[in-house]
Amino acid sequence: MDLTRSASALGLQVLVLLLCAIGQNMAEQEVENLSGLSTNPEKNIFVIRENGTTCLMAEFSAKLAVPYEVPSSNEVDWDLVEAIIQLPRDTEIKGKCWNNESELHLSWLDKAYTLKLFFVKDGQDFTKSTGGSWKMSKVQFLYDPSERTNFKTGARPGKQTATSHHLSLMATPVGMSYECEAPEKLSLISSDQKKTVVLFLSEVHIQPFDIKSDFVFSEEYRCLTDQRKQLEETLPLILGITLGLAIVIILAVYHIHHKMTANQVQIPRDRSLYKHMG
Ligand SMILES: *[C@@H]1O[C@H](CO)[C@@H](O)[C@H](O)[C@H]1NC(C)=O
Ligand SMILES: *[C@@H]1O[C@H](CO)[C@@H](O)[C@H](O)[C@H]1NC(C)=O
Ligand SMILES: *[C@@H]1O[C@H](CO)[C@@H](O)[C@H](O)[C@H]1NC(C)=O
Repeated sequence: MDLTRSASALGLQVLVLLLCAIGQNMAEQEVENLSGLSTNPEKNIFVIRENGTTCLMAEFSAKLAVPYEVPSSNEVDWDLVEAIIQLPRDTEIKGKCWNNESELHLSWLDKAYTLKLFFVKDGQDFTKSTGGSWKMSKVQFLYDPSERTNFKTGARPGKQTATSHHLSLMATPVGMSYECEAPEKLSLISSDQKKTVVLFLSEVHIQPFDIKSDFVFSEEYRCLTDQRKQLEETLPLILGITLGLAIVIILAVYHIHHKMTANQVQIPRDRSLYKHMG
């Protein structure tokens, strides 16, 4: 009885293992939406998992300023206006996780908009994760001014693509995550008469490579703006402590000096006392 039971349990375990193995070979991609964890309603948090472990993690809020033209009131000229497009939480997320290249595709409003972020890992030997770094190498934004949620009527319809050129942003040592609380600004050149689309990112925390544990960012690498801000915040404290220490040292030196001179004065007195006694 016990033997058959343990045998069937073993069979079940083997089956589960087999199913896991099949799942791994197919490299199924799962996306976990964790945006609800943030109190900031504009912040997106998500995790892309492949082969049963996290391969890309990202947190940020993003906004795009897109210039476009609408017919002027005189019906002859065109007026340049700007659409401000906020990346919503309700996005369709897709990613690619290769050993030296990663991509993140965010689409919303039934694919009316797509924001693509590309990451690469530098270095000669990718198996040795020492000395190298990763960076954001390209950003692409696909839009169509005939979309009515963000663009006014009269805008010229047609698919447009805004692309960054020769980007080297978020350079971070391999094995670490990039973190930047401060807002970052990035210019993209649009296929719509080379207009400049601006991408604003803030509260960024990204890791597209080498995530050691499932759902956990590796050690943070802070952006320069954050490092400077941190220094500005801690500098008054450091100065205060230094000043305090200096005062303590001066007082101590004064005290010791005072004591020593007092002792020196006492010695002759003592001697004279001896003389009197003698
Ligand atoms: C997942 O497994 C597949 C097949 O074994 C492999 O090609 C792919 O690189 C793996 N992905 C990750 C992120 O490790
Ligand atoms: C992700 O979660 C947030 C917050 O719970 C929700 O508002 C949003 O619709 C979700 N996105 C998707 C694509 O399900
Ligand atoms: C990624 O690695 C492959 C081969 O390992 C190489 O051909 C390719 O150029 C690399 N990509 C980058 C961006 O370095």
